Amino acid sequence: MVSVEEAHASSPQFEPHFNFSNPFFPFRSCVGGEELERQAAQFVVAPDAFITSERLIESFGRAAPLEIDLGCGDGRFLSQMARCYPDKNFLGVERQTERVRKTARKAVLFGCQNVRVVQTEILSFIRSLLPYGSVLRIHVLFPDPWPKRRHSKKRLLCPAFFEAAAAALAPGGEVRVKTDCARYFQEAVCAAGQCVLLEQVEWVELNPPIHTTFETRFLSEGLPLFAARWKRADERIFKRNGADLAENHLNMGRKLPE
Ligand SMILES: C[S@@+](CC[C@H](N)C(=O)[O-])C[C@H]1O[C@@H](n2cnc3c(N)ncnc32)[C@H](O)[C@@H]1O
Repeated sequence: MVSVEEAHASSPQFEPHFNFSNPFFPFRSCVGGEELERQAAQFVVAPDAFITSERLIESFGRAAPLEIDLGCGDGRFLSQMARCYPDKNFLGVERQTERVRKTARKAVLFGCQNVRVVQTEILSFIRSLLPYGSVLRIHVLFPDPWPKRRHSKKRLLCPAFFEAAAAALAPGGEVRVKTDCARYFQEAVCAAGQCVLLEQVEWVELNPPIHTTFETRFLSEGLPLFAARWKRADERIFKRNGADLAENHLNMGRKLPE
């Protein structure tokens, strides 16, 4: 198990261009009230039954490497990443309406044109709406652990999740997971281990490190955190199985209930 603190300690120093400890510094946009809501709405990809993967990608208005944050919460991580890497597109996926709104508002306040957020369920989203081989990084940061045994089926990080995530990754792409729950972490590592298209690689912290809201809270409480990342497996494996996988990926999406 790799602790996040160890990884932070070994990260090279970085001079931030802005204050990461205060997510609203400096404001590029000073809008508020109705105007903020109006602008924020433009960052939300409508939870529309007719949305297609093409429309989703086109909603950015440009082609760029895509990173997605599954369960993006209030969008703190997403908007800070988007500011830090303006040459990439960042997509948040979140099912709670108020958190979707918060994410969109942060994108406006941070002046990030490269953020979109979609209100939907994660698993159906990665199975049916992410184009095959399209994503550079998938972040799953502090997913709900559902610690009670009777709720275990609700846990996101299961073999089906990793299969779908691997299919969505572009060559060289990676899945990055962090959690405060040791047992869930072990379970996730086992689940990912069943996916032949993913290879676990050494954890490397982002540079600069960018923390989510939950992570900030856990770090301030001194809790141990666990992190792992998996790269899409060797291109040769992909070439051998790629066509079938692409087909399966689409079929999985079609089979999902509404
Ligand atoms: C524990 S919070 C973590 C939020 C954020 N990643 C952070 O670290 O601050 C988990 C988030 O994932 C969202 N979520 C959980 N399961 C989901 C699902 N199946 N589909 C969409 N969103 C989900 C929740 O609504 C919540 O905002």
